[in-house]
Amino acid sequence: MTETFDFIITGGTLLLPGGPAQTDVGVRDGQIAAIGDLGAAAAASRFDAKGLTVMPGVIDEQVHFREPGPVHKEDLESGTRGAALGGVTSVFEMPNTDPPTTTEAAINDKIKRATGRAWTDFAFYVGAAAENADDLGTLERLPGVCGVKMFMGSSTGSLLVADDENVARVLRSGTRRVTVHSEDDMRLTERAELVKDGADVSMHPVWRDVETAVRCTTRLLRLARAAHRRIHVLHVTTAEEIEILGRNKDIATVEVLPQHLTLAAPECYERLGTFAQMNPPIREARHRDGLWKGIASGVVDCIGSDHAPHTREEKARPYPRSPSGLTGTQTLLPLMLNHVAEGRLTLQRLVDLTSAGAARIFGIANKGRIAVGYDGDFTVVDLKAKRTITNDWIASKSGWTPFDGMDVTGWPKATIVRGHMVMRDDQLLDKPIGAPVRFQETL
Ligand code: DOR
Repeated sequence: MTETFDFIITGGTLLLPGGPAQTDVGVRDGQIAAIGDLGAAAAASRFDAKGLTVMPGVIDEQVHFREPGPVHKEDLESGTRGAALGGVTSVFEMPNTDPPTTTEAAINDKIKRATGRAWTDFAFYVGAAAENADDLGTLERLPGVCGVKMFMGSSTGSLLVADDENVARVLRSGTRRVTVHSEDDMRLTERAELVKDGADVSMHPVWRDVETAVRCTTRLLRLARAAHRRIHVLHVTTAEEIEILGRNKDIATVEVLPQHLTLAAPECYERLGTFAQMNPPIREARHRDGLWKGIASGVVDCIGSDHAPHTREEKARPYPRSPSGLTGTQTLLPLMLNHVAEGRLTLQRLVDLTSAGAARIFGIANKGRIAVGYDGDFTVVDLKAKRTITNDWIASKSGWTPFDGMDVTGWPKATIVRGHMVMRDDQLLDKPIGAPVRFQETL
């Protein structure tokens, strides 16, 4: 009897856990049902991926989509639209919305808002605060929650856990890996006078300096060890932290961003002004080199975008009144494919960073690799395509990217979420079928 599938990809190069293979993959009821020659199988729909490379779906584990709250910058529909256009199949969304995502009601509200409007699968972070520290162990297990996010340094929004006592309370509450924005808030406050009456934006990494990041990460590691709690350090920016975190891999995982791997000070501030301003900041080339060393050595576990949209008008305010944050989810993959084309990392390592890494760090139940029983999430790419990233292509309500005008080699051709093709050739298809990501059982 002929085997029947809902969706088959034929003729492409699949990036399987064991390496690339020229073979087919079939999806049934949203999950991968077979890998191998499916030439004779029947399918409701087929995608001919001849000449293309089929990656496991890209997971962007750090985005800010602003809903509820300042939805003039972004919302869950526009944010996931940009993600899907960029080849991303799942997003984990940050809690610094308005109100912040610190309660069960706020989590359920976000899930309700995303259902029927999200183009990708999704999960939400619970924001840590002194007020909810003792409830985090319960909140982190709710369906649709990827974990706890703790801001140790002030950034966009009101969430902050700055002092050792409250950081320790957060780390003692619950069992899942805690995700952390690591900048020492006491030092940020002390040094704020460097910029508070106005300064050139090139002062941003001078104010939020290397010591601000290193001091915080050192404190965090000490407190995490005392609490026997695993941590995930977000958007690491310094060569020093890569060294330190490399000695603490038993307790800490590491995220870096394409922005920090691609841009460097002072050039980015001279060229882009406040449109290069983000937290933690883009630093000199020696730090960018340090992050690449972390990719080569294996210290870095995953790449997220920290998509943090603000309108052009907001970004154009004089520094430091200009908000920090850059768009990024749509450009994550094109930028990283370009780095592959330029020989900075292999495609296999990229898959480790964009799919397998997040699956391992967050304990995602059934995503992150092309394997039978896993979700039918695929990012189909043309490794040879030569394209230019432009503001016109950006779906974000904010309408801009710091990479406008950049020529890249490598481009997403199709985004497939649980067997549904939601993007093909830069066009959205079907409808927003995003659903909550499922996680492994926690103890
Ligand atoms: O630059 C940033 N922008 N860093 C953050 O930590 C927050 C983000 C935002 O939400 O705008």
